[in-house]
Amino acid sequence: MSTSAQAQKVLVTAGAGGIGRAIAAAFAAAGARVHVCDLDAASLDQLRAQLPGITTSVCDVGDRAAVQAMVQQASEQLGGLDVLVNNAGIAGPTASVAELDPAAWEAVLRVNLTGTFTVTQCAIPHLKRSAAASIIVMSSLAGRFGYPNRSPYSTTKWGLIGFTKTLARELGPFGIRVNAILPGAVDGPRLQQVLQGRASASGRTLAQEQAAALANQSIQRFVDPADIAALAVFLASEAGRSISGQALPIDGDSQSAA
Ligand SMILES: NC(=O)c1ccc[n+]([C@@H]2O[C@H](COP(=O)([O-])OP(=O)(O)OC[C@H]3O[C@@H](n4cnc5c(N)ncnc54)[C@H](O)[C@@H]3O)[C@@H](O)[C@H]2O)c1
Repeated sequence: MSTSAQAQKVLVTAGAGGIGRAIAAAFAAAGARVHVCDLDAASLDQLRAQLPGITTSVCDVGDRAAVQAMVQQASEQLGGLDVLVNNAGIAGPTASVAELDPAAWEAVLRVNLTGTFTVTQCAIPHLKRSAAASIIVMSSLAGRFGYPNRSPYSTTKWGLIGFTKTLARELGPFGIRVNAILPGAVDGPRLQQVLQGRASASGRTLAQEQAAALANQSIQRFVDPADIAALAVFLASEAGRSISGQALPIDGDSQSAA
């Protein structure tokens, strides 16, 4: 696709790093016009330097007033909106329900659930003006299984599936498709840190913890963020036009969340 008037206009939340950055880069490579919001202003500066043409806003998706201004700015800078990628989500604490800090519970719900709701609600009027709109919601393997000691994360990621399926039915009549992506363990520094933490706690080696994590999967490889980005680009494309209301795992056929 060229950067012509037909180029897709795409908003990616929390796209200055991690999976969101890979998604922003993949849409840009496919010829889309991309706007990225993130909390981290310095990383957004780097992103604009690395991917010229991308526009950005500093925004916490948990802050309703900031989101309203950000979505308006994104739509103005892109010249409309065809695709919303609700990628923002935080991991939250590692603690049992019995021991969880109630403030930490609220903090995860504020970003993962309410943030996704707010960005989506603000984007709907813009998406309704698109000829081929779609929304992607970032759930997780933790939205498919129980995840011991990660209850706020797992609860929000299951909640986002309900949000996706409900929204798909509400927006289908307007020609807007809505799908959730459920990544498994994604390769990168965050995963290595998690595995290192498990190794320190268990007394096993990093390699043993890595093997134990992969033993949950039939495909012996952690997920590459580029693979998730390719799925997002496909779902938002013409080729995905009959797919809506779906929760799509991309996790090497994982059989548990931990
Ligand atoms: N990394 C994984 O293994 C994995 C697996 C399954 C699902 N996910 C989901 O994928 C999404 C992205 O995960 P990631 O690991 O790439 O994230 P990450 O922790 O690498 O963070 C990506 C970006 O999110 C931004 N961010 C954090 N809170 C924000 C907020 N309130 N408002 C705006 N931006 C904010 C950060 O500044 C950062 O640039 C999340 O929803 C996550 O739950 C991740």
